[in-house]
Amino acid sequence: MRPIIIAANWKMNTTPSDAGPLAAAIAAVTDAPDVERVICPPYVCLAPVRDALAGTGVDVGAQNVHVRDAGAYTGEISAAMLAGLASWCIVGHSERRRDMGETDELIGRKVARCLESGLRPIWCVGEQLEDREAGRAEAVVREQVRLALVAGGLAGGAWAHTIVIAYEPVWAIGTGRTASGSDAAAMADAIRAALEANGWTHEQAQAVPVLYGGSVTASTIAEFLSEPCIDGALVGGASLKPDEMAGIVARAATTAAARRSAALR
Ligand code: PGA
Repeated sequence: MRPIIIAANWKMNTTPSDAGPLAAAIAAVTDAPDVERVICPPYVCLAPVRDALAGTGVDVGAQNVHVRDAGAYTGEISAAMLAGLASWCIVGHSERRRDMGETDELIGRKVARCLESGLRPIWCVGEQLEDREAGRAEAVVREQVRLALVAGGLAGGAWAHTIVIAYEPVWAIGTGRTASGSDAAAMADAIRAALEANGWTHEQAQAVPVLYGGSVTASTIAEFLSEPCIDGALVGGASLKPDEMAGIVARAATTAAARRSAALR
């Protein structure tokens, strides 16, 4: 059975002084042991968020990592530097693809770097609006998966229980517009098919959690979690609001309980 995961992407929001109290407030209203919860604040807020979340069961994630361990890379942060601060890391978010020119090849190497360093990568894929309108959304995402797997040397599925993939259609991020549950489910199937087409076994591909991301709120989460092939969400704007996170995680806990009892039957 795949875990249910709700990951908060705080993006470039919060400061070292307000991030800890916000993380603590979210942990307090999302106490659901069957849901894996992760908060990904900006780098400078990792330590206060880690301290605020100690003993709550909520994990800490970074929003990016460099492929190298150290060196002349001004402004960058390596996996080694994240040790003790974060146990997860978002990789290949579309805002970094857009603003920093991150390619699928680089993203694949970052995913590999996370795995080597003991960080669980939340690897983001997703199509642009014109790709969806032209009917090539699945082809675009399948190619994103292939390119990153090849570049990261991840063609064997040994990492099936560590990698998490987030399907985030770019046109749904921060727009208030979501994909339909059925389109997201079709994409989750396409992602797992792409893993299988690139050297993963069927069992390995089925073991990978696939999250949906893009304007998820307490009122839109149900549509995605009611799809059996979607295993949670990567939440941006709503993840800064404890009330929204409470609603999202409560719905995720219902899904986790339902899937657990179905698996036992
Ligand atoms: P959003 O962002 O929930 O604000 O659309 C999601 C994300 O970018 O991960």
